[in-house]
Amino acid sequence: MSPPNASENHLLSNPIRGRLNSATLRTIDGYAHRLIGGRKHALFADLPKQVVEIGPGTGANLRYYRPGTWLVAIEPNLHMHRPLRAAARRRGIDLELRAETAEQMVLPEASVDAVVSTLVLCTVPDPVAAVREIRRVLRPGGRLLFVEHVRADGSYGRVQQLAARPWHWFFEGCDVRRDTERTIRDAGFASVDLQHYDLRSAFLPINPQIAGTATR
Ligand SMILES: C[S@@+](CC[C@H](N)C(=O)[O-])C[C@H]1O[C@@H](n2cnc3c(N)ncnc32)[C@H](O)[C@@H]1O
Repeated sequence: MSPPNASENHLLSNPIRGRLNSATLRTIDGYAHRLIGGRKHALFADLPKQVVEIGPGTGANLRYYRPGTWLVAIEPNLHMHRPLRAAARRRGIDLELRAETAEQMVLPEASVDAVVSTLVLCTVPDPVAAVREIRRVLRPGGRLLFVEHVRADGSYGRVQQLAARPWHWFFEGCDVRRDTERTIRDAGFASVDLQHYDLRSAFLPINPQIAGTATR
């Protein structure tokens, strides 16, 4: 099967929500940085020169990368591309932008040392396939570094239940009830090291989060 091209991806065909999401990400960029910047700084501290990032959106993570980083950005929503390019120029990042999907990256097997995913495994249509594909492109010893929101029990679980449908529509497929920890743990990595935390943001359904690394 050939990899999907830009015109085949459903995200590219929604002119309203694609733009809306791009605008939303830019609007909350500073707020997200204040909430989670410290955690991301620590997580991304020793990234190699080449980084593959799936779903980078408008470039929220670029401020944590060293200037001169070669970033292979797998971003199917074309409305993210212009702000992402601008962020790369501002941060001195060498950007290779690809309108591919995380489920089918046109990258050779065992060819990269680090893949980054932040708030993406909630949105990709097939998270199991995406993590399988990430593992495929990583070299033995290569790492997936992730920050993801996850399904919860208790009061957050009830909030997620109520918010699930409108959230899914507004944020182009984002599912606040995904068990992303299970998806990562079941993917066959040699080790998985993660922490659970409460983001304490105004966006209640995505407050239960995990961050960590999965090593091939
Ligand atoms: C909630 S946004 C997160 C953006 C950014 N990573 C951040 O932390 O702000 C989800 C991103 O995943 C992208 N995305 C959706 N489906 C995807 C897929 N199949 N493969 C790769 N990225 C995808 C969206 O276009 C969007 O940029």
